[in-house]
Amino acid sequence: MAKLLLIAEIQTRILNWYAENRRDLPWRGRTDPYEILVSEIMLQQTGVERVAETYQRFLDQFPTFASLAAAPRGDVLRAWAGLGYNRRAVYLHECAKLVVRDYDGQLPSAPEKLRRLPGIGPYTVAAIQSFAFGAEAAALDTNIRRVIGRVAFDEPPSDLDLNEVAGRLLPAGRSAEWNQALMDFGSLQCTARRPACVVCPLLDLCAAVQQFSPRAFERKVAERPEPYLGSRRYYRGKIVAFVRELPPGQTASLDAVLAAVKLTDDGHDRTWIESLVRDLEAEGLVKLAGGDELRIAVPT
Ligand code: ADE
Repeated sequence: MAKLLLIAEIQTRILNWYAENRRDLPWRGRTDPYEILVSEIMLQQTGVERVAETYQRFLDQFPTFASLAAAPRGDVLRAWAGLGYNRRAVYLHECAKLVVRDYDGQLPSAPEKLRRLPGIGPYTVAAIQSFAFGAEAAALDTNIRRVIGRVAFDEPPSDLDLNEVAGRLLPAGRSAEWNQALMDFGSLQCTARRPACVVCPLLDLCAAVQQFSPRAFERKVAERPEPYLGSRRYYRGKIVAFVRELPPGQTASLDAVLAAVKLTDDGHDRTWIESLVRDLEAEGLVKLAGGDELRIAVPT
């Protein structure tokens, strides 16, 4: 269970910290639902700096749901270059088509309608509700979960408990500001590997501070995830990057794909790459063409 919390004190200290330390990010302060949706889908799996480089260019090219919906898939994938996890580009494109078809080009505000759109989970629903529609919603991304988990709980909380406490912590009428404040707090101050406890405004209120000895930090560093190079995601990204740069209307052979991805001696073979290509087709990221020989093209 959560500790007894000094809610108003935590709110004040976090909001004061935010006023001093907030990051200037290109989607901050915006409320246009389309612009918020684009930023949130991009930020689901890509870091803030990388998204900041691509975000405005993407909006310039596709300023509205209607313009995105009308674009060929290949254009959307090219505009997505650099962000990775290309499936999200497909989801966003499909979202735009559904919003145009079912909602007259206006993103609905009702959470159950948002949740039915592709690529939108509970976190993204809450982020859209608070940033675009000013609703009282706690957007529990990884950073915010960690911050609340540390400050308010002695043990890792259940989702139910975390949601309950997150709801109680929301300052009335200031959800958008609060969610952004906690995101920045989690990214800059209460980081996963090396929280800056000694200069933390919540130091005297935090349940977790004792666990961050230098030794705990060393242990966390030793547990880094496996490297990306040579992974399934690595090759998927390479295939999509190759295919989306094909001239319009042109197809490529599997041999050309193999040459482009530079399959190294890491235990993967032609059959495996072909299976990745077929998965990518099922997800709408490449198109398969041709008769006897497998040919690969950019989806339309
Ligand atoms: N991650 C997801 N949404 C974000 C936002 N609005 N600001 C910073 N990081 C985010």
